[in-house]
Amino acid sequence: QQVDLDIEKIEKGGFPHFMLKEIFEQVYSIRDTIRGRVNLEASEIFLGGISEMLPKLLQADRIIIVGCGTSWHAGLVGEYLLEELAGIPVEVEYASEFRYRNPIIREKDIVLAISQSGETADTLAAVRLAKEKGATVLGICNVVGSGIARETDAGVYTHAGPEIGVASTKAFTAQIAVLTMLALSIGHKKGLLSDEKYRNYIQELYHLPNKINEILKKDEEIQQLTLLLKDCPNAIYLGRGCQYPVALEGALKLKEISYIHAEGYPAAEMKHGPIALIDEKMPVFVIATRDTYYEKIVSNIKEVESRKGNVIALINPGDEIVKDIAQQTIEIPDTLESLSPLLTVIPLQLISYHIAVLRGCNVDMPRNLAKSVTVE
Ligand code: G6P
Repeated sequence: QQVDLDIEKIEKGGFPHFMLKEIFEQVYSIRDTIRGRVNLEASEIFLGGISEMLPKLLQADRIIIVGCGTSWHAGLVGEYLLEELAGIPVEVEYASEFRYRNPIIREKDIVLAISQSGETADTLAAVRLAKEKGATVLGICNVVGSGIARETDAGVYTHAGPEIGVASTKAFTAQIAVLTMLALSIGHKKGLLSDEKYRNYIQELYHLPNKINEILKKDEEIQQLTLLLKDCPNAIYLGRGCQYPVALEGALKLKEISYIHAEGYPAAEMKHGPIALIDEKMPVFVIATRDTYYEKIVSNIKEVESRKGNVIALINPGDEIVKDIAQQTIEIPDTLESLSPLLTVIPLQLISYHIAVLRGCNVDMPRNLAKSVTVE
């Protein structure tokens, strides 16, 4: 028993929980995922695992992304990235729905399965169905040699390292890093991204781990903020564009480990229902970084404020407008809009973690959840 505990302590590397360790590891896991693939000097991206599939990807009419849980959320960020940067129409499906429908798959469609474990039963079944229907099937997995990695035609591994905490953190950002590299390299090869833009993205992606580090330095500030939130029974998360899936992921993290009911919404949908829930007891997390949607999100915040909701906003440095109207703000370093989900999710992970700890929850092994759902 003593030996087991000591080993666990060593494995946690001085952190009280695997989840916190894995949140902090994102500085390195993203670096490891892009290492050897992003060449800063040559301004090139090379994804060896799918290089033979590149002609098919360049001609793809559509990519259908399948996944479950957090991996499905990464797929939604991927939809935004692949449409915006690579000009490919994307659909994102829950693997469990896809596998039991009779999905229409055409010759130039590509199915892309995303899975940390590579063993999720529904995602594996979706891969098998897509293959049966003659699709080219690619995978983004973390676990080397896993079922999905073996059964897909080709794929790209996320090099996030073992993820022990049941609630996925570093695997999510590594999946997004792979999707970003994929979208950028296709977009550049198709001539949709100029050399200059491409170089700019590559440089920014390369330096992103430093910006994650900046956010992690605010851990104590974030922990303080959660003292006021730990007893809330419900929470809402809002985002627009590529921040909408981040809002979903923030809500899922809170639900999973602190058992607080939380919902993520595209901010404009708030007025079609969730706004009825807002009162002074309702924390509303809003991702309000300065992007295409900034003006819109500011007016969404005003709508929440006028109903006395408690807005906690993620903002870029120097944003006095949101600072003035939100109850609390957390500053996120500036980056390119398409890359910002890799930053905005970090404080949301920390918020969930600290709230769960304050509530005395079993952070690494939340009730009723499994790290990998290998049966239906
Ligand atoms: C379980 C885990 C989640 C994970 C999901 C999909 O529900 O608790 O953290 O996102 O499965 O797992 P996968 O291994 O396919 O990414």
